[in-house]
Amino acid sequence: MDQNELSHITQENIEAWDEVAPKHAKSNQEKLVRDFADPTYSFLDDTELAILKEIDVTGKDVAQICCNNGRELISVKRLGAGRCVGFDGSQAFIEQAEELAQAAGADVEFVCTDIYDMNREYDEAFDLLTITIGVLGWMPDLDEFFKVLARMIKPGGTLFIYEQHPILNMIEPGDGDAPVVWDVSYFSKDPFVESDGLDYYEGETYESKTITSFPQTMAEILNAGLNQDLTIEHFEEYPHHISNTWWNVEYSKIGLPMCFTLIFRK
Ligand SMILES: C[S@@+](CC[C@H](N)C(=O)[O-])C[C@H]1O[C@@H](n2cnc3c(N)ncnc32)[C@H](O)[C@@H]1O
Repeated sequence: MDQNELSHITQENIEAWDEVAPKHAKSNQEKLVRDFADPTYSFLDDTELAILKEIDVTGKDVAQICCNNGRELISVKRLGAGRCVGFDGSQAFIEQAEELAQAAGADVEFVCTDIYDMNREYDEAFDLLTITIGVLGWMPDLDEFFKVLARMIKPGGTLFIYEQHPILNMIEPGDGDAPVVWDVSYFSKDPFVESDGLDYYEGETYESKTITSFPQTMAEILNAGLNQDLTIEHFEEYPHHISNTWWNVEYSKIGLPMCFTLIFRK
């Protein structure tokens, strides 16, 4: 994809994230501020926590790519990580993250940037990069994205991904009792272009900025890392649901993989 098209899409998406940020804050922020005031609070689920413990973040420099409101990175810091930096394109979410870090009393930095425009000062700056729940699908060019990630990892460092399974893109998301309809080919290359907002907490729809996301196959995700000479150390698929959509798939109990964990080493 050419650079102008890529920037146009990512900027439009980021505007849509900025637009929804106050709605997400209304749903979550007050509770998160209260939760993080408790020094024992963690937002990490059992799967993410078990893997981070296995990786052992103690004293490590960690970056979260597309960190949104920072609730996971602040929790990683609480596991004993060293320097922690969260990157996100949405200034409005960065501000929420800074408020949560302050409530937590956590020394976590947040940087507002389009990931594709990552400043070279972060080259080889991190022992561990994390990417979780709802990030890869926003990337118009996976190879360029992984190029940035590979640059940021110190030699010998790790990239940990905990994501929705790409097979879910085949199914129209819906509430619990919505039928599971297979309407998109697993191999489709057509972007999903929408304009009804990103309020996946309250389910409010509104006339939003244009939102463009991308179907990807598991092979494309694995190959994007391998193409940067990263080594696969771990790959697992799970039946549990980690997104705020596709409740219909979980409810149907048809046994699809709902998410995966993947660890690359540089
Ligand atoms: C679904 S959220 C990630 C959620 C996070 N795991 C959590 O649970 O809070 C996706 C985030 O990606 C960010 N984002 C999307 N495209 C981006 C880009 N090109 N550069 C930087 N951030 C981007 C959005 O601003 C949004 O905060």
